[in-house]
Amino acid sequence: MTVIAVLGAGKIGEALLAGLLQGGRSAEELLFTERHPERAAELTERYGIAGVEVAEAAKRADVLVVAVKPQDIEPVLAELAPLVGPGSLVVSLCAGLPTSLYERRLPDGVPVVRVMPNTPMVVGEAMSAVSPGKHATPEHVALVKEMLATVGQVVEVPEAQQDAVTALSGSGPAYFFFLVEAMIDAGILLGLPRAVAEKLIIQSAVGAAKMLAETDEHPVILREAVTSPAGTTINAIRELEKHGVRAALLAAIEAARDRSVELGKAHE
Ligand SMILES: NC(=O)c1ccc[n+]([C@@H]2O[C@H](COP(=O)([O-])OP(=O)(O)OC[C@H]3O[C@@H](n4cnc5c(N)ncnc54)[C@H](OP(=O)(O)O)[C@@H]3O)[C@@H](O)[C@H]2O)c1
Repeated sequence: MTVIAVLGAGKIGEALLAGLLQGGRSAEELLFTERHPERAAELTERYGIAGVEVAEAAKRADVLVVAVKPQDIEPVLAELAPLVGPGSLVVSLCAGLPTSLYERRLPDGVPVVRVMPNTPMVVGEAMSAVSPGKHATPEHVALVKEMLATVGQVVEVPEAQQDAVTALSGSGPAYFFFLVEAMIDAGILLGLPRAVAEKLIIQSAVGAAKMLAETDEHPVILREAVTSPAGTTINAIRELEKHGVRAALLAAIEAARDRSVELGKAHE
C-alpha cells in the first residue's frame, strides 16, 4: 500500500484525491492537509479521507504531493524541511516552481518530481507532464506516473520544458472553456435559446475532442473535411484569420509561459 498525502487540498488537490479514489485507491491510502478546518471537514465528509497535520502526513505518507499556490510555497517548505529525508518522495504540482527550489530548501537527497497536471483530472482526463529532480530515481518517476495514470494521461518531459507545458496543457482547459463561452454567446447573438446554444457547442466540443483523440488524424485534415468550397465554414475561417485568432493564441500561450518562468524566478 502506497500512502499519498496531498498538501493543500484546493481545486487541483481535491481533483487528484477524487481521481485517485475513482481510479481504485481506497480512502485509507489517502491523506490531505488543509488550512481551514471547515474545508477539511467538507472534504472528509465528501470523500471519507482524513485531514491531518503536515507532521502526521510526513510520517504516514510515502508520497507527499504539494498542491498549494506557488506563492504559498515558502511556509510549506519550512514546515516540511525537518520532517522529510531521502526516504520521502515529494511531488510538486506547483506551476513554475523548479525541483531545485525544493532541493535547496529540503534536506540533502530528498527526491522531488515536478508535475504539471490540469483540472480535467476531476473527470479522469488529466494531462500531466512529469520531470524528475536530481535525486529522483526511475522508480520514483514510475511511481508518480502510475499514480497519475489513474487520473488521465501522462508524459515525461525534461524539466526545461515545464514552463511551456504549464502554458499549453496546465492552462489549456481554460482556453477551451473561453472558446466555448464565446461560441455560446455567438449562438445567443444568432437568436438561439441559451440552453440550446450550450448543448450544441458542448457536444460539438466533446465530439471534436473525441475525433482528435481517436482518429489519429491531423487537426488540419479534420478541419478541411468540414470546409467545403464556397461553404459556411470557410466564411467563418476567413473571419477567424482576419481577426488574428491564430496569432492571439500564439501570443497568449507565450504570455502564459513567461508568467510560469516569472513564478519560478520569484523563489530563486
Ligand atoms: N487549477 C489548475 O488548473 C492548475 C493546473 C495545474 C497546476 N496547478 C497548480 O496546483 C496548485 C494548486 O492550485 P489550485 O488551483 O488548486 O489552488 P487552490 O484552489 O488555491 O488550492 C490551494 C489550496 O492549498 C491551501 N493551502 C495553502 N497553504 C497551505 C498550507 N500551508 N497548508 C495546507 N494547505 C494550504 C489553500 O488554502 P487557502 O484557501 O487558505 O489559500 C487552498 O485550499 C498551484 O500551485 C497551481 O500552480 C493548478
